[in-house]
Amino acid sequence: MNDLDTLVSDAEREFAAAPTPAELENAKARYLGKAGRVTELLKGLAALTPEDKKTRGAAINQTKQRVEALLQARREALAEAELQAQLKAEALDVTLPGRRRGEGGLHPVSLSIERIEAIFGSMGFAVADGPEIETDWFNFTALNTPEDHPARSMHDTFYVEGGNVLRTHTSPMQVRHAVQHVRDHADKIARGERMPEIRVIAPGRTYRVDSDATHSPMFHQCEGLWIGESVSFADLKAVLADFFATFFETTDLQLRFRPSFFPFTEPSAEVDIAFASGPLKGRWLEVGGCGQVHPNVVRNFGLDAEHYIGFAFGLGPDRLTMLRYGVNDLRLFFDGDLRFLSQFRV
Ligand code: PHE
Repeated sequence: MNDLDTLVSDAEREFAAAPTPAELENAKARYLGKAGRVTELLKGLAALTPEDKKTRGAAINQTKQRVEALLQARREALAEAELQAQLKAEALDVTLPGRRRGEGGLHPVSLSIERIEAIFGSMGFAVADGPEIETDWFNFTALNTPEDHPARSMHDTFYVEGGNVLRTHTSPMQVRHAVQHVRDHADKIARGERMPEIRVIAPGRTYRVDSDATHSPMFHQCEGLWIGESVSFADLKAVLADFFATFFETTDLQLRFRPSFFPFTEPSAEVDIAFASGPLKGRWLEVGGCGQVHPNVVRNFGLDAEHYIGFAFGLGPDRLTMLRYGVNDLRLFFDGDLRFLSQFRV
């Protein structure tokens, strides 16, 4: 092997040994750079006779071309290897199952409220909505609640700036809705014509300073109000009996009206139900309060209490949801744990 063949095989070996493009460029410099071996050979031509220059020069040029070809081949091999590595790293397994979107669903209490709205809707009740920050007038005074009533104490009620409260019940919606209704039909009432009955429910959030397994500082109520010219306590019983039978999908549900007191109704009662079967069989469970609307409240609606009469009730959608699904701790509803909540997805 002559010196030129040796140089070519040296170059081939060194190029092959360069693991990266940068190291390959270093190896190139050792052959084709300013002080590289090929360049040195070309410089050596100067000392030769014109005759020898020709043959030797041609041989060196050929050598240079072989080295350049080897370099180019190695460059391409390295680039190809790099590309393959990158493709491998970024490989997509198109056979993997896709990531599913988390499916949402309604909160169990929302499901109950929708159910409540549908059932009362079928009995001709409209649905009203109102503020959770309420004035003292709507939350207490208009509802015939005296200044010294215990419900007004700081122990029970969250007071906010400006003397307002976080509504402690949905009953203020009785007044708000009735006042609006009377305003909407003022012309008729003034002409002595019959005012359309007030028949409305108002579900929503309510707040009290209270927290344990069966009380949450934020909870839900659903107010009901039916005012007309002869709406009686018997109507109240019929409406609630019908409601509970439909809500719990059973006809053998017992209903009990336990005498009670609310400033805004007279007479007043707590409503208890008892199931005829199931784990709660025979146990009386309190599910709401109700009564005939107090004449003072009817007057605050803007109506003649001698002429208009009716009933109101307040149900606890949280309680109804617990009974419907057999949930024993109210706090589960408001902890936001998806393992619990997703079980109610429909
Ligand atoms: N607002 C009462 C409460 O929060 C419930 C109620 C509503 C009672 C309507 C009578 C009539 O306890």
